[in-house]
Amino acid sequence: MFPTDTPSSNTSPEDFRYIVELVLKEAAIVLEGEKDYLVDSRLTPLAKSEGIGTIADLVRLLRRDSYPSLVKKVINAMTTNATSFFRDAHPFRALQSDIFPELIAARSDIRALNIWSAACSTGQEPYSIMMMFKDHFPQLAGWTNYILATDISNDVLDKAKAGVFRAIEVNRGLPATQLIKHFNQVAGEWVIREDIRRSIDFREMNLAAHWPPIPQMDIILLRNVMIYFANDTKKLILERTLRQLRPDGYLILGASETTFGLEDAFEQVTIGNTLVFRKRR
Ligand SMILES: C[S@@+](CC[C@H](N)C(=O)[O-])C[C@H]1O[C@@H](n2cnc3c(N)ncnc32)[C@H](O)[C@@H]1O
Repeated sequence: MFPTDTPSSNTSPEDFRYIVELVLKEAAIVLEGEKDYLVDSRLTPLAKSEGIGTIADLVRLLRRDSYPSLVKKVINAMTTNATSFFRDAHPFRALQSDIFPELIAARSDIRALNIWSAACSTGQEPYSIMMMFKDHFPQLAGWTNYILATDISNDVLDKAKAGVFRAIEVNRGLPATQLIKHFNQVAGEWVIREDIRRSIDFREMNLAAHWPPIPQMDIILLRNVMIYFANDTKKLILERTLRQLRPDGYLILGASETTFGLEDAFEQVTIGNTLVFRKRR
C-alpha cells in the first residue's frame, strides 16, 4: 500500500472493527493485514451506490437494524473472487491424466459422476471441468453427471449463471481452441455455449454455515477459499467435506492449502506436480 492509499473517509476504528466482526460472523472470513484499506476500498463504492453516504453511515444503519439484504451486499463486496479458467493448470492436468480415467472406470456400472466446485466464484472452475469432459471424455455424454457449483456471494453466482466473460477473463488460462469451440462472441464479450451453461447447478451456499443436503461427491474442488478462514473453521469444513466425499473420491485444494494438521482422515497423494487428498483407508 502506498501512503496516498490511506483511507480517505472518516471511518473510525470502531466502524472498521464492526465490519471485520460482521464479515467473520456472516462468512467466517478473517480480514487480516491491510484490513482498513480493504474495508475502505470495497465498502466506499457500495455505500455510494446504495445512496448511503460513507462507511460510517453504512455502519450506523447496520447497527440500528440488521438489514439482511444490506448485510449480503457487504459480504458480497468483502469477498475476494479472483479466479480463472483452468487455474494453476496442473490440477486440471491431474484430473485429465489420472483422476477422471480412474473414476470413469470405477463408475462404469452406474454411469454417473458427482463433482462439486465449492466456492466457485464466477464459474470458471466448473466450466473448465465441463469443457474437459467435452474435449477429452466424450464417453461421458451418455452419463448422468451432476456438477454442483456453490458460493456465498450471489453477485458472483449471477455472473457465473449468465456465463458471459470479458476478453481479459477468457485470455487468462483458456487456450484459443477451447475459446472458439465452447464460446460465442456477442457484442465484444464471450458467452459460454448453452449446453455447457445448463449442465451446471449453481447454488448459493455458505461453507461455514449449515450445509443443505447434497449428494455424495466423487470430486470436491475446495480451492483458494480456506485461506480466508481461521483454523477452527477449516477443521469444521474439512470434517464435513470428508463426510461428503465417496470412499474413493478426491479432494482438490488450492496450491497453498492443505489438510495437514487439520483433518488426519485425509491423506496426501501426488499426481504429477499436484497434491490431491483422499480418504485414508
Ligand atoms: C478466491 S475465490 C476462489 C475461486 C475458485 N475456487 C478458484 O480457486 O479459482 C474465493 C471464493 O470463495 C467465496 N467464499 C468466501 N467465503 C465463503 C464462504 N464462507 N462460503 C462459501 N464461499 C465463500 C468467495 O465469494 C469467492 O468467490
